[in-house]
Amino acid sequence: MCKKFVANGYFVIAGDANAARLIDSIGELNRSGQNAVAKPGDLRSKAYCEDLMDEAIGLTGRLDALVNNAGIITRGTILETSDEDWERTFDINLKSIFYTCRRAVGFMKGHGGGSIVNISSTWGIYPGPSHAAYCASKAAVATFSRCLGRDHAADGIRINAVCPGEIDTPMLRSGFIHRGFDPETAVAELSKSNPLGRLGKPEDIADAVYFLSSDAARFIAGTTLEVAGAKAVY
Ligand SMILES: NC(=O)c1ccc[n+]([C@@H]2O[C@H](COP(=O)([O-])OP(=O)(O)OC[C@H]3O[C@@H](n4cnc5c(N)ncnc54)[C@H](O)[C@@H]3O)[C@@H](O)[C@H]2O)c1
Repeated sequence: MCKKFVANGYFVIAGDANAARLIDSIGELNRSGQNAVAKPGDLRSKAYCEDLMDEAIGLTGRLDALVNNAGIITRGTILETSDEDWERTFDINLKSIFYTCRRAVGFMKGHGGGSIVNISSTWGIYPGPSHAAYCASKAAVATFSRCLGRDHAADGIRINAVCPGEIDTPMLRSGFIHRGFDPETAVAELSKSNPLGRLGKPEDIADAVYFLSSDAARFIAGTTLEVAGAKAVY
């Protein structure tokens, strides 16, 4: 996503808890100019969520687009979900988005509007089995985005959610490892179950997010966009 926005002329402030990987990725983007800043931190901190917005505004004087992508997957039925699992899931997947959105909407409202894209999941719309906390948190992200989209359209702020299907990332592969499968074999098998014949790639989501953030999506607000290659979720 950072790559996509930088390629389209944006200056990017990127946050993530994995400092080493974040700094590496942003270093790569900056090889061809100073296009991005890495600001590692933990989104469970309200101060960090707000600092991310303030740093973007402080450095550039503007905030055109916010993308809330970070998330964790918590596995298990309710009986397998501890209090800590539940709280951690909602702190990272939902509460952080409340803090970043509130700060961003506050600024965008007085500065000509902007775009916000929150990453939900197809499991936030059609919940899958044995992921009660994850599915509930992603459903909340989808509904929260639609509420905000409606409330702030008149302020020129378009707020939408993207609901990815199965995307080949460390999160997806961790599920295979958790169940004792070889990730390469499992990815190849799972690819066959998608009507488009493959799993999604991070670039597929980045393109959808960029589209929603761009003027090409100027009449799209308060909605959820499924990016899942037509795979039905049961
Ligand atoms: N991969 C999929 O199949 C899939 C499907 C549907 C939705 N999603 C959603 O897409 C988003 C990206 O997922 P991904 O597959 O790239 O997962 P990932 O695990 O590969 O990446 C998630 C990122 O979030 C960061 N993160 C986690 N907790 C954090 C915290 N407390 N503070 C700051 N950063 C934190 C991690 O360091 C990591 O870089 C998530 O919101 C996920 O729920 C993924």
